[in-house]
Amino acid sequence: MDHKIVLIPGDGIGPEIVAEAVKVLDSVGEKFGHTFTFEKILMGGCSIDEYGEPLTDEALGKAKAADAVLLGAVGGNVGNSRWYDVAPHLRPEAGLLKIRKELGLFANVRPAYLYKELAGACPLKEEISENGIDMVIMRELTGGLYFGERKTEAINGLRTATDTLVYNEDEIRRIALKAFDIAGKRRKKVTSVDKANVLDSSRLWRSVVKEVSADYPDIELEDMLVDNAAMQLVKDPAQFDVILTENMFGDILSDEASMVTGSIGMLSSASLRADKFGLYEPSHGSAPDIAGKNIANPLATILSAALMLRYSFDLDKEAEAIENAVEKALKDGYRTGDIYEEGDKKVSTTEMGDIVEGNI
Ligand code: IPM
Ligand code: MG
Repeated sequence: MDHKIVLIPGDGIGPEIVAEAVKVLDSVGEKFGHTFTFEKILMGGCSIDEYGEPLTDEALGKAKAADAVLLGAVGGNVGNSRWYDVAPHLRPEAGLLKIRKELGLFANVRPAYLYKELAGACPLKEEISENGIDMVIMRELTGGLYFGERKTEAINGLRTATDTLVYNEDEIRRIALKAFDIAGKRRKKVTSVDKANVLDSSRLWRSVVKEVSADYPDIELEDMLVDNAAMQLVKDPAQFDVILTENMFGDILSDEASMVTGSIGMLSSASLRADKFGLYEPSHGSAPDIAGKNIANPLATILSAALMLRYSFDLDKEAEAIENAVEKALKDGYRTGDIYEEGDKKVSTTEMGDIVEGNI
């Protein structure tokens, strides 16, 4: 089968880590008899440099026509880059928000998983981490505060800024359905996170999620307030299977969850809609401080490519081959700098890519 993949290397370490994922995909294609064709587009700072905007309509059109998109990372140092001396809609991150919205990618799946081999990197006490961490954060991605009306104006002579948090019941229902579906393939528990003690949008969220849960009698539903969820993530992360939450809460909690595993360089993510199309990217950012040094960890991007094979192309066996190849590289002691501990074999970005490719 032929699969058309649009690549967005992006900024910072993006191009380096995407190159390693392509290497691995090529070797999966060869072994299992698939053809992956790749087309690169610009998004983020590199597109600003070239075209004066973070994502051109032409580039967006190419992404729309693909079967799936693999993204590295976009953006630079916020305080210290020419890309941020412009209006918000022209900054690198605006490209990311535009592609999410224009492609209708409402469901952001962010796994947070503690690898046995990397247990030492977990910042929690052993009595907590030994219970394991294996959760998926299901973050709504095209609504809420990120896309509500916003403005900055003078009211009574005071600079005043407004952002609005809007959800309708359909937006909540479709992401809840995804969360219950995924929970059904896992440990069958959904924790829906909201701020229903304060926000109307959260009260609607809670009641729609409850309605959806009626069709999933074998899945446990628990509601949790977001401030409590932030605490529980460090107190007892093993309790979570699928966390379902709105855009902004999901942005914050997914960073917390990934940090708790101690290895953000390992965590993949998928942004999906109702059909098979998806955008896949590592959970970490563009790390401009280490860009171009061949030391970044390519594993999150390689694992994102595995998610692409599974969710967009239904190639489960092939996805597993990648995941096993990564696990073997870890078992054999290979580590990039971010996950290195004394006694491990320290490798570069390209070496790690070669090792995983060799394990396919
Ligand atoms: C993320 C990032 C983005 C977000 C930024 C870069 C706009 O933090 O993917 O989590 O807030 O969604
Ligand atoms: Mg974020």
